[in-house]
Amino acid sequence: MNKPLNKSTHTVWHRATVTRQRREQKNTHKSVVLWFTGFSGSGKSTLAHAVEERLHQSGLNTFVLDGDNIRHGLCSDLGFSDQDRKENIRRISETAKLLIEAGVITLTAFISPFKAERATARSLMPQGDFIEIYCFCPLTVCEQRDVKGLYKKARLGEILDFTGISSPYEEPENPDLKIDTHQLTLEESVQQVISLLRDRNILPAPAIVHTLMQSTV
Ligand code: ADX
Repeated sequence: MNKPLNKSTHTVWHRATVTRQRREQKNTHKSVVLWFTGFSGSGKSTLAHAVEERLHQSGLNTFVLDGDNIRHGLCSDLGFSDQDRKENIRRISETAKLLIEAGVITLTAFISPFKAERATARSLMPQGDFIEIYCFCPLTVCEQRDVKGLYKKARLGEILDFTGISSPYEEPENPDLKIDTHQLTLEESVQQVISLLRDRNILPAPAIVHTLMQSTV
């Protein structure tokens, strides 16, 4: 990812007194980025929102940054060229970084097709704060589902640069978690994410963890 030059050379960083650490103490849980990546239709958004629902119900502070939604606002000026996708992910990475500073468990659901941009996103966050979750669903299955009818349009040439059809997707080589979304139920997928959060000590008191592991989406 090309980090834009800092055009303003006369700016001085202001150190906040209310720090991330203090926010995390108040929240009684850590903040982290759960970065969901995968093809369109692989279940990223569904899973991210289901995990958020579970965490929110247990009183945790969460927020989902969702590709389709963000492209209606913050990134509405961007299309799907390689360059625009890079800029899309750069903005999301910086936004996610702000949100973890704010003490929020941040879930991002973007195709984020390029390894380099995902690696840069990881490098922006303190070590261990970027958790890459690969929603694995074969392209043929995503295309069969075609929930939004976009694959059909891409095959007909009505949408250009479509991921998996006419634009590449670089698979994560070493994700923190790979979820076979085409084989697992939504509940099973949610449980995998919650278990990871538990194992990484991101969740608060054991009682809440217990509730999280018990409930259904
Ligand atoms: S990313 O590649 O820049 O990470 P992002 O996640 O924001 O993509 O947006 C992907 C969503 O935009 C898809 O789920 C789909 O609904 C829609 N979309 C529209 N055009 C395309 C395209 N050419 N390639 C992939 N997704 C597209």
